[in-house]
Amino acid sequence: MAKPLKVLITSGATREAIDPVRFISNHSTGYMGRLLAEEALRRGHQVTVIAGAQQEPLPRDAVCVSVEQASDMQSALNEQSADADVVIMAAAVADYRPAQVLKSKQSRTHKWTLELEGIPDLIAQMPRHEGQIVVGFALETESVPERAQGKLERKQLDLVLAQEAGMAQAPFGRQTVNAWLLAKDGASEALGLISKPDVARLLLDKIEALWYRAKCSNAR
Ligand code: CTP
Repeated sequence: MAKPLKVLITSGATREAIDPVRFISNHSTGYMGRLLAEEALRRGHQVTVIAGAQQEPLPRDAVCVSVEQASDMQSALNEQSADADVVIMAAAVADYRPAQVLKSKQSRTHKWTLELEGIPDLIAQMPRHEGQIVVGFALETESVPERAQGKLERKQLDLVLAQEAGMAQAPFGRQTVNAWLLAKDGASEALGLISKPDVARLLLDKIEALWYRAKCSNAR
């Protein structure tokens, strides 16, 4: 049997505190992260999941590191990725956080303007090592493959699974998604409407093909 891979998956939503009782987040349920973890374990790989807010249960055989905000996810990602063969960035990182976290609960009787600042790109800033395979997702409302191609290049990813997001078909939870798969070698495939379990299988097929092909050509 081929050597098992160390697969690191980020999953779920990050949460950014506004005050002691409120936060900014998004609709991610962590279903994709769960399916990727299950599929990688089924194939005999070692799986660690860095999980933000996660409504879906994670498999017991995965090592789970729980985080809350993007800065915690960034620290865990940078630490855990050091010996990972594969990193799959499936988490929905909140794009903005309050510029200042309030120390006490803001009363609803106050009129209130919240100042937000952008959150750094975790996967783009993650230190890499030779041969590591890095996979990202892209969520786009328009020009899906073109914008995903930009993310593949900017974030230096090996594969990107792009999904269309719209008010009528938000790609959260268990529904099918309209998806594209883009690879660093220029291959781009429109997958059409596809279930998330099929996305997980397809991504693991592609990752294994990339990994074992690279190992065979290095052995020559
Ligand atoms: N991502 C990340 N750090 C962030 C935001 C996103 O590592 N601060 C990762 C996501 O986990 C995903 C990929 O980058 O794998 C693309 O996420 P997406 O939300 O589509 O894009 P953004 O980089 O947030 O860009 P924008 O919001 O401008 O579309």
